[in-house]
Amino acid sequence: MNYRESVRNILIEKFETIPLANVLTFGCAQNENDSEKIRGMLYSLGYRMTDELEKSDIVVYNTCAIRENAELKIFGNIGKIKALKKQNPNMIVAVCGCMVMQQHIVDKIKKSYPFVDIVFGVNAAELLPELIYKCYSERKKQILAPEDRTEIIENSPVLRQSNVKASISIMYGCDNFCSYCIVPYVRGRERSRKPRDILNEFTELVNRGYKDITLLGQNVNSYGKGLEEKVDFADLLSMLCKVEGEYVIHYISSHPKDFSKKVIDVIRDNPQISRRIHLPIQSGNNRVLKEMNRKYTVEKYMEIVNYAREQIPDVTFSTDIIVGFPGETFEEYLDTENLCKQVRFTQIFNYIYSKRMGTKAAQMPDTVTHKEKSEWLNRLIKVQQQITFDYLNDCIGKEYRALVEEKHDKLYTCRLKNNFVVKLFCKDDILNQFVNVRITGKTGTSLTAELIKTER
Ligand code: SAH
Ligand code: SF4
Ligand code: F3S
Repeated sequence: MNYRESVRNILIEKFETIPLANVLTFGCAQNENDSEKIRGMLYSLGYRMTDELEKSDIVVYNTCAIRENAELKIFGNIGKIKALKKQNPNMIVAVCGCMVMQQHIVDKIKKSYPFVDIVFGVNAAELLPELIYKCYSERKKQILAPEDRTEIIENSPVLRQSNVKASISIMYGCDNFCSYCIVPYVRGRERSRKPRDILNEFTELVNRGYKDITLLGQNVNSYGKGLEEKVDFADLLSMLCKVEGEYVIHYISSHPKDFSKKVIDVIRDNPQISRRIHLPIQSGNNRVLKEMNRKYTVEKYMEIVNYAREQIPDVTFSTDIIVGFPGETFEEYLDTENLCKQVRFTQIFNYIYSKRMGTKAAQMPDTVTHKEKSEWLNRLIKVQQQITFDYLNDCIGKEYRALVEEKHDKLYTCRLKNNFVVKLFCKDDILNQFVNVRITGKTGTSLTAELIKTER
């Protein structure tokens, strides 16, 4: 049966005007990328997009399971849709993504959120036509049980959010099983896309004028494992950098255990690659790192940082840190604080440890109170604020190349290749262009600049 065609016909019959879809994304860049595929599929069925819940004929919640507060926030959001659904009986409410790859969550939705019509997990956008069709024609809810869908589907429809910034998934899943993390359980085993498919998508984006492209994977540095072709992440970066055009390539996330000197050499030799390395350390203490199953030591981490700084003078580092891992002592937390002072990250994404059902760390005794953990987190935030402040001061007077990303009246927001944000006034239209800027000062966490020369 051609479900796409059937859904198009049903929508024409049911709705007097063009039906509207609203896809709400929670979680990481991978989920944003999945949402673009979900929007692409809905668009191909005849829906157009809206940001207004009141006007939506289908609402899709693309969910995240990384921490408990992410899940609570999502349930809070889903709860609010109940009243709107009463006003629009044809409305479909769908929940997908990482959270519903857990059976206990699917059970909770069935029991406590009976107005949810469709549940499907990750990598399942191509099932949407069938699910919507059955939902309308059989008047029955379509709640799928969590199922690993490992096939990589190429050339599915995509509706991108921007004409300048785009992301490309280069791999899916994760095999690392860091002891605190739910991702390997909800995203399945690691699999890489073929280099040719990635190159085609990348080339098409550059040719269409995209200037800021992010390569996505839970651990991009293990790219290529399991492919017939012998290729690693450094080879992939080199291959992409041969594509003609002016653009900047970012990549997230890197795992220190697999970050090779070869990748650093490729970054050094290709100015199109971002000068910011996001390298999650998680903890600055070797015992805690071992308990986290991270498979590297602080010494190995510092070796990467030092080599990169030798090879790429303008490189900056950002990181992720978990405070209050089960069994972590205050002294061990202080090792993390000291490491941050030593590395001098430009940005830290800090999280208080959140217990995730089914992970190894969920079995470990956790005696430190939430209040103490919050105090550690606040200390770390203060340490980082000072470091960021010093970095921004150091930039003043220097010249950089920047991509102009946003415009509010005559005030433009630009991003430097080391990921710093700069604001500048300009009376010409410079949106979405690369420009040369001189840093003139700072406001809060961003810099102010003046234009040196505009390229047209
Ligand atoms: N694959 C990426 C991280 C994805 S999750 C990597 O390994 O770098 C993003 C961040 O969320 C992680 O780096 C970690 O700092 C944090 N995180 C993951 N699980 C968590 C948990 N159970 N509690 C608190 N933070 C967590
Ligand atoms: Fe989670 Fe570790 Fe995989 Fe990152 S590498 S997604 S932290 S298991
Ligand atoms: Fe969340 Fe899934 Fe990403 S759990 S962080 S949306 S991979």
